[in-house]
Parts: sequence; C-alpha cells; structure tokens
Amino acid sequence: MKYQQKLPQLDQLLSDYQWLWHPQPFKQSRPAWCERLPVLTEQLLRLSDDELAMMQGDHFALLALLRPYLPELSDMTPLTAVAEAEFCALKPLNPRFHSAIPGRKWQQIQAFSAAVGKVERPILEWCGGKGHLGRLMAMQWQQPVTTLEWDAQLCAAGEQLVQRSGVDQHFKNIDVLAPLPKRLIQQQHTIALHACGELHCTLIRQAVAHQLPAFDLAPCCYYRTHEKSYSPFTDGLTLQLDHNALRLAVTGVATASRRELKWRDREMVWKLGYELILQQQLGLPYQPIKPFNKQWLREGFEHFCQHLAQRDSHKLPDNIDWQHYQTEGQQRQRESMRLSLPRFAFRRALEIWLVLDMACYLELSGYHVQISHFCDRTLTPRNLLLSARRGYEN
Ligand SMILES: C[S@@+](CC[C@H](N)C(=O)[O-])C[C@H]1O[C@@H](n2cnc3c(N)ncnc32)[C@H](O)[C@@H]1O
Repeated sequence: MKYQQKLPQLDQLLSDYQWLWHPQPFKQSRPAWCERLPVLTEQLLRLSDDELAMMQGDHFALLALLRPYLPELSDMTPLTAVAEAEFCALKPLNPRFHSAIPGRKWQQIQAFSAAVGKVERPILEWCGGKGHLGRLMAMQWQQPVTTLEWDAQLCAAGEQLVQRSGVDQHFKNIDVLAPLPKRLIQQQHTIALHACGELHCTLIRQAVAHQLPAFDLAPCCYYRTHEKSYSPFTDGLTLQLDHNALRLAVTGVATASRRELKWRDREMVWKLGYELILQQQLGLPYQPIKPFNKQWLREGFEHFCQHLAQRDSHKLPDNIDWQHYQTEGQQRQRESMRLSLPRFAFRRALEIWLVLDMACYLELSGYHVQISHFCDRTLTPRNLLLSARRGYEN
C-alpha cells in the first residue's frame, strides 16, 4: 500500500483510539477507559512482573492480549508494517578506524551506511556530532563530506579523527535551525542519523526548498520542538499530536540496561509517592514534577521529597509516614505500568504516522520515497530510515 493511502487510514485509526492511548495512567490512577473496559482493566492489573516485562518488549504479544477487547486493532498491523532496508556490502576497514566510536554507535552507522547504499555525490551530514557516519561514508564511497554540527567541541574532536583517517571531511560549526549560508547546500547527498524533532523537520523543509537530489534520514526525539504541538507537513489530517503524544511515540526501554531500569523504577515510585503527599497532605492538584538533580535519588525517599518540597517552596508537615507513602508510590507505579500497556500498543503507530506525514509531503514535492528499518530495535529503537530521491536519482 502506498504512503498516500496509508496515512489517512492510520490517521483515522489513531484518532478513533485517542481515548485509549492519550490518557497517562501516571497522572490519573484510573483513566476513563477503565470503566469502558473493566474486564481488560482487571486482566492487566493481574499481570505478574514477568508478564508485564514480556508485554512491554513484545509488541505482537501485547496486541494479542488487547485484541479480544479491541478487535479493530488488527487493522493497525498492515498500516504500520515496515520492510527491512536492502543492504549493500561495505568495504572492510582497518579496526583502528572505529576504535574511537562506541560499539553500539559503530553498529548503527554501519547499518545506516549499508542501508543507504552507494553514494555518488559529495555528502552533507546533518547534525553529525563527531561525524562518525560521515567519515565512514567518505571512506566507503570516496566522496568529500561536510558535517554540520553546532557543538564546537564535537567539531574539534571530529576534526582530530579526520586527521588520523585521512578522509576528505570538513566540519562547519553551525546552527542548522538558523538561516544557512547558500554555499553550504549544493545539491549534495544529505545524511542525518538521529536528528531530533525540529532538526529533522528543518532538514525536510530545506531539502524541498533547495530541491536536494537525495537524502537519508533516521529521525528521533519527535517531541524536541519549539511548538506546543506538532504541525503536520501534510494537509487534511485529523490527528493533533501534543508533546505527550510525541513522547509516547519514542517511549520504550528496548536498549535500557537492568541498572537503568532499576533507577527508572525508583524514580517513578518516589515521584508517585511524593505526588500523593502533595495531594493528600497539602491538598494540591496533580502537577508535573519539574526536572530535578538525579543525585537526590541516591539519598532515600524522605530526603528526595524534602529536596523537591524545598525547591518548590512547599512546607511539608512534620509527621509524615514516609514508609506509608513509599509503599503507596510502589502500588501506584505497579498499577500505572500495567494500565499503560494499551497506550504502548500505539507507540509504533504514532511514530509511523509521523514518518508517513514526512514521506507523503516529500512524495507530493516530487521525491521517490522509501521507508524502511535499518537495524533491529535492540540496537536502536529509532531504526526507521526515510530515503528520498528526486525523480532522476538512484
Ligand atoms: C542525537 S545527536 C546525533 C549525532 C550523530 N548524527 C550521531 O548519530 O552520532 C544530535 C546532534 O545534533 C546536534 N545539534 C543539536 N542542535 C543542533 C543545531 N541547532 N544545529 C546543529 N547541530 C545541532 C547535537 O549537538 C548532536 O551532536
């Protein structure tokens, strides 16, 4: 099915189910849908920790659990199916080439390069960090590379790596969101690995404005935009995505270590416990906790709450039963993790909707577009590749 057909259908499905995926059980202990689906609610709350972990990691097992209550979810699978990229063979390189690249990043850039295939033009690397991807592609295809990056330290580190490898790569310490000098964009083949929200949206707009002949983009962090909600590229869509929905599109723990999960769980339990104190002891309505010093998570629940209360000028009573609120936080966390499963079933669909929106806009702007995935989710959950070629390019 072509992208122009898929997008309106996925738009409709996601709009129809907004009542299920939009409420956040961490904010509302029982979202309104629990009354509509009481048997599913019970079943979710009864899941063991192992079953919960399995459902969090296995999208299809989760859909199978939900389908008896929501048969229309079957329509989501064909609308969100994405084929694996076609990979070309890369030339073997001296291991010294990648000794400075962290293992996972090295695997990502190899997979990305192999999925892009042969490049026959100079390369423009968008938000390239230390330019690892650009350097690999310069080696592979003997093309000059210009890497755009706003962090001067990353540019300097990248330039040092270039000297060792001897490739033709230059860094431009530049903010890609500001108007770019005309001479920078000159019909190159543009590549962008994990360009966050506003950065990849800007690339799409620049590509169309400059009629770039070819580009390959792996988007990430869709919620990193200045706008309160997402402005679609395509006209006529129903869905409106706020930051909550944009975050949901990238929620997941596919690459988190056990240690990271332990700290994540502690943070959730303590935040929920603290919120209950604010509500029950001070009568305050729910309010999101602003970012805080993570060091406070090492100091015990009581100190954690005292730090937050002091920072936010709340006077906590002296006789708080800390153990009680920590236990309540644990119970709330246990339940909200389970009641979040239905919304998690829509994560990939939301991400595909965002990528389809860009793909359709590019198609209407004269590009041949291909959406594929360039690696397994365990290597990076942001594994979608949007490849665009103007009519005459390979
Ligand atoms: C997620 S990193 C990806 C880096 C690299 N492409 C990679 O995959 O290793 C995003 C990069 O965008 C850079 N960046 C953020 N905002 C930028 C801007 N406005 N202009 C240029 N680069 C920017 C960051 O400094 C960072 O290096």
